[in-house]
Amino acid sequence: MKEKEYSVIGKRVNKVDGLELVTGKARFTGDLRFPGMLYGYAKRSDSPAGMIKSIDISKAQAAPGVHLVFTGENIPGPNLIGILPPFDQTLLAKDKVRYAGESVAFVVAETKTQAKAAASQVTLDIEPTKPVLTLDDALDPASPKIHANGNVTFSRNLIKGDVDLGFAEADVIVEGVYETSYQEHAYIEPEAVCVVPGGDGRITIYASCQSPFHLRGHIAANIGQPASKVRVVQSYTGGSFGGKDDVAVEIGALAALAAVKLGRPVMVSHDREESIIGSNLRHPSRIKYKTGAKKDGTLVAKQVEILLDGGAYASESPFVTMKALIHAAGPYRIPNVHIKSTALYTNKTYSGAFRGFGVPQVTFASESQMDELAAKLGMDPVELRKKNALLPGDSNATGQVFKESVGILDTLQVIEREREKLEDFKEDNHYLYGTGISSMLQGISNGAEGIDVVGASVQMSQDGSVLVGIGLTELGQGSRTVFAQIASEVLGVPLEKVTVKTVDTDAVHDSGPTVASRSTTVGGKAVLTAAEAVKESLVTMAGLMFKSPGAPVVLKDNFAILEASPEARIPLDQVATAAYWTGFPLMNLTFSKAPPSNYDHDTHQGDIYVAYNYGSHLVQVRIDKITGEVTVLRHLACHDVGKVINPKGLEGQVEGGSLIGFGLAHMEKIVHSPEGRIINSNFADYAVPTIKDRIPTEVVSIERPTSNGPFGAKGVGEPPVAGTASAFANAISAALGKRVKKLPVTKEDILIHLSERDKK
Ligand code: MOS
Repeated sequence: MKEKEYSVIGKRVNKVDGLELVTGKARFTGDLRFPGMLYGYAKRSDSPAGMIKSIDISKAQAAPGVHLVFTGENIPGPNLIGILPPFDQTLLAKDKVRYAGESVAFVVAETKTQAKAAASQVTLDIEPTKPVLTLDDALDPASPKIHANGNVTFSRNLIKGDVDLGFAEADVIVEGVYETSYQEHAYIEPEAVCVVPGGDGRITIYASCQSPFHLRGHIAANIGQPASKVRVVQSYTGGSFGGKDDVAVEIGALAALAAVKLGRPVMVSHDREESIIGSNLRHPSRIKYKTGAKKDGTLVAKQVEILLDGGAYASESPFVTMKALIHAAGPYRIPNVHIKSTALYTNKTYSGAFRGFGVPQVTFASESQMDELAAKLGMDPVELRKKNALLPGDSNATGQVFKESVGILDTLQVIEREREKLEDFKEDNHYLYGTGISSMLQGISNGAEGIDVVGASVQMSQDGSVLVGIGLTELGQGSRTVFAQIASEVLGVPLEKVTVKTVDTDAVHDSGPTVASRSTTVGGKAVLTAAEAVKESLVTMAGLMFKSPGAPVVLKDNFAILEASPEARIPLDQVATAAYWTGFPLMNLTFSKAPPSNYDHDTHQGDIYVAYNYGSHLVQVRIDKITGEVTVLRHLACHDVGKVINPKGLEGQVEGGSLIGFGLAHMEKIVHSPEGRIINSNFADYAVPTIKDRIPTEVVSIERPTSNGPFGAKGVGEPPVAGTASAFANAISAALGKRVKKLPVTKEDILIHLSERDKK
């Protein structure tokens, strides 16, 4: 099919669930009310590390309105959750507390106020141990062990070529250490679940969540029931960005235990403070880079050592460690690479999935280093990147070769062209100016990292309307609209006639987690395949009705049209009805299969992802020399997305991801007390960019299609975070004339840099 023939793919369509969201009709978990509903609230540890001597719940049990108080001793299942076995995270801490904010007891009462008041009456006797708070503490063999296996959560090496030989060939070498800080997801809606016991021995969990089947499995295990007795229904979800997997499991399982025991619905809905201290954050990092190049700029060797602060529990650390490892060499052709990536346990709130998943951290370091290298070589930074940019057929850091859909050079050409148009501001009494660029890649799909199957169903009713079922969740990113567009395009029905089901584990199939920018690509491909199977029935039926069996038939605008004589057309509802009565299946359930992988987990060589999104960003900043205030004058985000399915949705994703990248690079700072408590667990003291701080992101798309995505499409949810953060850092470095090696670089940091500059 040629581009111009698409009816709805590539068109600026509104979100299919937009109206209920903007009119307030959409009900979020916290909006739900059931007869007899109770409220749960957790008592949390104040100490970051210690042995639990005793927990006294007697006063809380006697408090007004209280129905139930329990501790880790009372959990029938394993009291363990996590992403990867062996699971290391307790629902309620037993024996040991590992971070300040960890749940130790759970209270259920008539109202949330009563539950909170009663929780404050639970007394904990904790014998403090020395907290392990920093990466250096964690590395110190003399430090206490947070888990039985020590303080290393996960560590891997990527080895390609021979890095020593590579450096021996290099004419120029640059080295540096770069650091990034925590980041909070800061979604509009904090985490919430509501568990309703049914009369049939089953329970239903309404949840603000990302991965409902994962939730179902852990909850079933912890209440000691088979998964089939548990039903998870995803409510409208007010953002997630990676943040609602672990914590939904934690509060879901606690509420489920109480609901089963009491035979009444139980709601848990986090306050903002709980959302910050008691659910995962982005991994802080310290990354050592060494890059070697020939005089002409050709990269010959890269050595990287990544340390990630994983906090008290493993959560997604193993996968984030891997993702950082795989992406640390950037979108470049480098023959000799050695990368070591390690996540460490510390006595702080656990780190986990957050949009970008390890890639923003390494991209900041890698792209800083590319600028330093360019300076040392006396080369233009765009030129240096263009020279080394991966081309179709090149082998990337894991040795994977893509013959198609490698658009990094195209994005750099856009940046180069647009950079020409920037106004060439010069420093004056009031302002400093700087321009920065970055290039990056981000793997799309779980690939060899994990399970990549998606179950998707497409069903046409006799009236020609369509139902799509998929286990991937809408979190605000617009995936329901993308799935609807794909079914609409294939089946020739208008978007209004397509409904994407609520994600309900009773009604859709396990599609794996909604992560890794995989929904459009891997999920969309499954919807496409299922829709094509239904189309097959309709086309066959229409051929019979046209009395031209087997003749090519086009489905478009609610009609089946005979390709040979387009005036011959039958309304699609008539074809669907006839197909149904004839016994042609009008429903298909597809399980997408990931392409075979030959990945070697020892060297991290082989094929891992089904595709990469590539991007280059351009940022121009102005710094107020008196106040340190930064204004982003221009931000261009150019990504190779394979194929744009919905330009509006794509722009929203790139703008939103860019804002998160901007927050990471410039504004957001979690502050711990010396004892290891987060002290700014509210949005007065933890600054996130708001609509007022919105940067002027311009979105440009390059389309180099992948055959692994529907219509060639590649996901774009995560990539802009890394692109924006690193281009911003390079722009600030250029303005200051001094390399920024630590993010965030806030207004205050900039003032400090300026005062040092003025001293010279
Ligand atoms: Mo996402 S950060 O891959 O949940």
